[in-house]
Amino acid sequence: MDRKHKATNHEYNPETLALGYGYDPIRSEGSVKPPIFLTSTFQFESADAGRRFFELAYGLREPDQGEDPGLIYSRLNNPNLQILEDRIAAWDKTDKAASFASGMAAISTTMLALLRPGDHVISSAPVYGGTHFLFENILPPLGIHTTQVPGGTGAEQRMRAAADAVDAGSVAMLYLETPANPSNALTDIAAVATLAATLEAETGRRPVVVVDNTFLGPVFQRPATLGADLIIYSATKFIGGHSDLVAGLVSGSAPVMQQVASYRTILGTMPNPFVGWLLLRSLETVSIRMRRQAKSARLLAQQLVDHPAVRQVWYPGLLQPGDPQFEIYHRQCTGPGSLIAFEVEGGQDAAYRVLDHFEVFRLAVSLGGTESLVEHPMTMTHADVPRDTLATYGVNAGLIRMSIGLEHISDLRRDLGCALDAAAG
Ligand SMILES: Cc1ncc(COP(=O)(O)O)c(C=O)c1O
Repeated sequence: MDRKHKATNHEYNPETLALGYGYDPIRSEGSVKPPIFLTSTFQFESADAGRRFFELAYGLREPDQGEDPGLIYSRLNNPNLQILEDRIAAWDKTDKAASFASGMAAISTTMLALLRPGDHVISSAPVYGGTHFLFENILPPLGIHTTQVPGGTGAEQRMRAAADAVDAGSVAMLYLETPANPSNALTDIAAVATLAATLEAETGRRPVVVVDNTFLGPVFQRPATLGADLIIYSATKFIGGHSDLVAGLVSGSAPVMQQVASYRTILGTMPNPFVGWLLLRSLETVSIRMRRQAKSARLLAQQLVDHPAVRQVWYPGLLQPGDPQFEIYHRQCTGPGSLIAFEVEGGQDAAYRVLDHFEVFRLAVSLGGTESLVEHPMTMTHADVPRDTLATYGVNAGLIRMSIGLEHISDLRRDLGCALDAAAG
């Protein structure tokens, strides 16, 4: 199956491509579904074929017209991973994708591939706790420093000021997490891409614009169409979708992806073929899952707004015209997703009482699976971020994060209502 319908040149939608693109059953005994290629190494047809494959894999020459990269060894490439990567690139409307052993493997490999001593990263904040740790503890000894500025409305201006403060010519990357974990703050991707172009005009160096698209992608947000260079996922979340694997993905333009993929080869941060196969299976239903989860989330967000124990709710589906966050939402998202953050009156004690009273929602970190989850960001996923820093992003002791799954909505509503009633003690 090609990306286009042969007879009419119509470009297929990613939901259709997720069922057939990048795999030819005839090359695998007619098996309609891709087999799991559980092999570490691949046999060459001839010594010359092996030589040619290695030349391409190590970037020693450009491919001839229509030449396949060729299978060598499963740390470099594997059919399950390649089919998955082709389908993700189709979702994201990018040239190429690479799969990883985890979201953090995707993020750290990308950073190591693209940053050098003396470089600066300007990042929106908050970001996922593991990414924060990488910025604060692992990159600085390598001479790579990050300035985090609050995400949300006007973040591009704060990023500009941060770039000037560190010497704009040293800014190698503008990193966004939008919506942010856990606050759901939306940062304007197109405005940050414009900032990258401005910095290039002024300094001769274009910072790479990287978007962590875990919360809304690949279904509700397409950062590449807004000017982002690289899109990163924790595929553990919605793409995997069943809370039964850990994986990551990066997609983007061919030259940058070439650099990222070559670092993955040497760092060995790829997933195994079975995880690739599971992700292929999950990708077939990601659209239908995310849409249904978002439908339930809208109803639950409204229930939270209406409950007296709840002080505030952060959910893109509640934004109203006139709010600058709504304007960003309207421009760059096609749906609100299914992550809700809300604050209960009464701080951590009240939040813990609510968390301990759920029966259907599971008290667990992670998100994007078929089952609904709840957690306490300040003492769990973001425990390594100083509390006063978290407070500046609105993440405080009463904040709970929910990921809405596929249970029957009436059961979720009942469970949420009973748990909230426990907040008062
Ligand atoms: C937004 C975001 N990015 C990245 C990650 C890291 O992904 P993983 O746990 O797959 O390494 C997470 C994990 O929770 C996340 O929420």
